[in-house]
Amino acid sequence: MNSNSLTRREMIGIGTGIAITGLSSAGNLIAGAADPLGKDLIFRTTDPRNGEPSLEKLIQSWLTPVKHFYVRSHAPNPKIDSEKFVLSVEGHVRNPIKLSLKQLAQLKRRNVTATLTCAGNRRTEFNQESSVGGVQWEAGAIGNAQWSGYALGDVLKKAEVLEGARHVWFEGLDEIQRKEAVIPFGGSVPIEKAMQDGDTPGALLVDRMNGEPLSPDHGYPLRTVVPGYIGARSVKWLGRIVVSDKPSPNHYLANAYKLVKNTDPIDWTEAGPIYRYPINGAIATPALDTKVSAGAVDIAGYVLPTGRPNTTAERIELSSDNGATWQAARMIGKASEYCWQLWKSRIRVTTDSKAIILRAFDSSGGFMPQRVPWNAKGYLQNSWFRLPISVQ
Ligand code: MTE
Repeated sequence: MNSNSLTRREMIGIGTGIAITGLSSAGNLIAGAADPLGKDLIFRTTDPRNGEPSLEKLIQSWLTPVKHFYVRSHAPNPKIDSEKFVLSVEGHVRNPIKLSLKQLAQLKRRNVTATLTCAGNRRTEFNQESSVGGVQWEAGAIGNAQWSGYALGDVLKKAEVLEGARHVWFEGLDEIQRKEAVIPFGGSVPIEKAMQDGDTPGALLVDRMNGEPLSPDHGYPLRTVVPGYIGARSVKWLGRIVVSDKPSPNHYLANAYKLVKNTDPIDWTEAGPIYRYPINGAIATPALDTKVSAGAVDIAGYVLPTGRPNTTAERIELSSDNGATWQAARMIGKASEYCWQLWKSRIRVTTDSKAIILRAFDSSGGFMPQRVPWNAKGYLQNSWFRLPISVQ
């Protein structure tokens, strides 16, 4: 596909979330056809692949099936031969190493369930104030999966980290065209996070998702998963790890994924990279634009507590009278650190109700604020979630 795909996409309404696409033998997009890589998503762009599930499908289960797990990619999926694949670990280490998948498999296998979410989840809500560029995510750029692989700390121990190490860089094998250059996606995490051990290691090198080998969309054959951090720190198609005394100079850590009011150079320099995600949540059903009758309405959704250790959702509240009164929602399924909490409720609406509003609080003091300041890249929209309703 080439840039022509945008025109075709617009023609068939993908940008507005109407259909999913497949490819004809000539490589053209076909409205309504199955996705060639098996996803059941609303594609916001198809080249590269950026898609989110409908919210109704998203909350069907605590563990998100791969076909309903959002995809956020900056370039086409690289084709990687797992037989020839080696992960390079270098930089501020005594023992630089190259590890094949077989060599990695000698390390202790870890299984962690964690939610991954894009910093741009709910970006479209910023457009009400002033429009923001980037992938136009609604509230589906989030998913909860079981990740299986190795603790980053175990790999770093093999490489013997030297005194003075402060950050661990990750570099992907994808090729992203940025202006005149082709760059990989990359980022870094502080050394303390990288070395954290326990039931949930601070960062994982993952080769399996929900019991299956990673799919090409999610980073086959190896990716990082950093529980508690925005999705951008979980680098897919991981090829290189560098231990350093500085944060990664890669564009996606040094410039992008920062909260800036405008895009002047001084704003970029002053702002730090986003690491941990704050609490967030959304009402998933009823869907937007559903007409409801006055009386009791069943609603359901998710809340993701702040990405801190041992943090879970404490109160999930709903209002149908513009915040005058609130009622608690019932949490369902598991409560687990670094994982979303699904919830349900039944709320009374009247012909005066204009919206159902969600807010939530977590056990580390995190809360969804009434509103958040607009930022130029549309990141971390975690204000009260408003579902406009028309009551008959
Ligand atoms: N890693 C590489 N190599 N290339 C990418 O484009 N996108 C990042 C991150 N890792 C990205 C990447 C972003 S912004 C997010 S939100 C997550 O991957 C999305 O992971 P997923 O596509 O598996 O849901």
